[in-house]
Amino acid sequence: MEKIIIAALAANNTIGFEGKIPWHSAEELRYFRNTTYGYPVIMGRKTFESIGKPLDGRQNIVISKREVQNSASDDIMVFNSLEKAYMFCRENLKADRVFIIGGGNIFNQAIKDADLMFISRIKNSFTGDVFFPQISENDWNIQTIKNYNDFDLITYIRNTDIK
Ligand SMILES: NC(=O)c1ccc[n+]([C@@H]2O[C@H](COP(=O)([O-])OP(=O)(O)OC[C@H]3O[C@@H](n4cnc5c(N)ncnc54)[C@H](OP(=O)(O)O)[C@@H]3O)[C@@H](O)[C@H]2O)c1
Repeated sequence: MEKIIIAALAANNTIGFEGKIPWHSAEELRYFRNTTYGYPVIMGRKTFESIGKPLDGRQNIVISKREVQNSASDDIMVFNSLEKAYMFCRENLKADRVFIIGGGNIFNQAIKDADLMFISRIKNSFTGDVFFPQISENDWNIQTIKNYNDFDLITYIRNTDIK
């Protein structure tokens, strides 16, 4: 099962401000929906609360140490660790790929063992209070770059060369 981080980063690496995404790009949201549709999506509790409802057409998985409001639905599963969420996707859902969709806290943990990263590079800088972790050139190779109007999509693959 491929573990794929999907994130949108401003030019200054911010991903969020005061619980929200600081920009609006319909183009980037459309790309996100098309890419993740049909696959499980894993998110932190704060991101789930920020979105405010389950993303349709996808098994929503929320990571939290506590009870999550509105979680009494088949569309939402709650786990108290990322590892348990991965296990559920692999063994119960038989998923061949899973998307880790944020926020900063979850990206910080998932970047350690994700296989791929789909990074939307938004072309401007924004004020932020949550940032994407440093992408180490030792750990990640750029696989492809695709240009959209509002962003550049950079696909990173984990460098598995023995150093
Ligand atoms: N630009 C993007 O691509 C993007 C994507 C998503 C989100 N965002 C933005 O990112 C911001 C939110 O990010 P954030 O870092 O503040 O929060 P977050 O990662 O969405 O959620 C953090 C919460 O997840 C739970 N959690 C994290 N690791 C856990 C673990 N190992 N075990 C159990 N629970 C764990 C905890 O919930 P409990 O406190 O309930 O235990 C923690 O408080 C918002 O501004 C949002 O808009 C941006």
